[in-house]
Amino acid sequence: MLGIIGGTGFESVPEFEVTQQQVVDTPYGKPSSALYHVSLHGNPSVFLSRHGTGPRIMPHRINYRANIFALHDRGVTDVIAMGAVGGITPQFTVGSVALPDQVIDYTWGREHTFFDDTAGPDIPTGELGHAEFAYPYDHHLREKILDCAKTAGMTIIDHGVYGVTQGPRFETVAEIDRMDRDGVDMVGMTAMPEAALARELGMSYATFAMVVNPAAGRSNESISMESIRQVLESTTNKVYQLLLALHSIS
Ligand code: HPA
Repeated sequence: MLGIIGGTGFESVPEFEVTQQQVVDTPYGKPSSALYHVSLHGNPSVFLSRHGTGPRIMPHRINYRANIFALHDRGVTDVIAMGAVGGITPQFTVGSVALPDQVIDYTWGREHTFFDDTAGPDIPTGELGHAEFAYPYDHHLREKILDCAKTAGMTIIDHGVYGVTQGPRFETVAEIDRMDRDGVDMVGMTAMPEAALARELGMSYATFAMVVNPAAGRSNESISMESIRQVLESTTNKVYQLLLALHSIS
């Protein structure tokens, strides 16, 4: 079953038919939002809002483990996670949508693994805890999304390195320059530890990254949530269409 994690701009359930709304708890605490069971063309899937549906949960405060555990527990096998990012390299212009293929994690202090002393009853610990993560985004899921985008006539950047910062502040110009030297194409605050946690539970995971601003120092404009929301208003429709196309084949 498909799980959709909505990021900034996707806090409310997309206009799918909601068949059930479920408030759940997990051994790791409460997920960011209720789980919305949605149906399109009879295909069930589950939607969760990463930043919550009430007061915004900031990126460093999100309970990533509870979110991923809850989706897995409800039978989600494939996760599509949406996220707003700043563009660093020239191809990643405002308004484009990318399907990253690599990640660099610059976050710190987040609960980032199921393999520790607080592991839930079904989670193995010890030697098994070293998840393979050379390619963080699932190849087959990415191919499926790219096929759908092609069929729907949508342009989507089919690669890119996503650098994840701790936030909630935006980056300095020197930090972005360093990320550029590291090979990072886009910067956001939520891709990790989410992707790694999904891998630990054996779920396929891919990200729609919506480029909503040039990263710090990549334009003369300063970055504000207000300008980001304005860009998102036009980009979310594009991503919504893509989700509709995906639903019909999942
Ligand atoms: N930096 C970090 N996270 C972001 C940005 C950014 O420029 N834009 C949207 N999310």
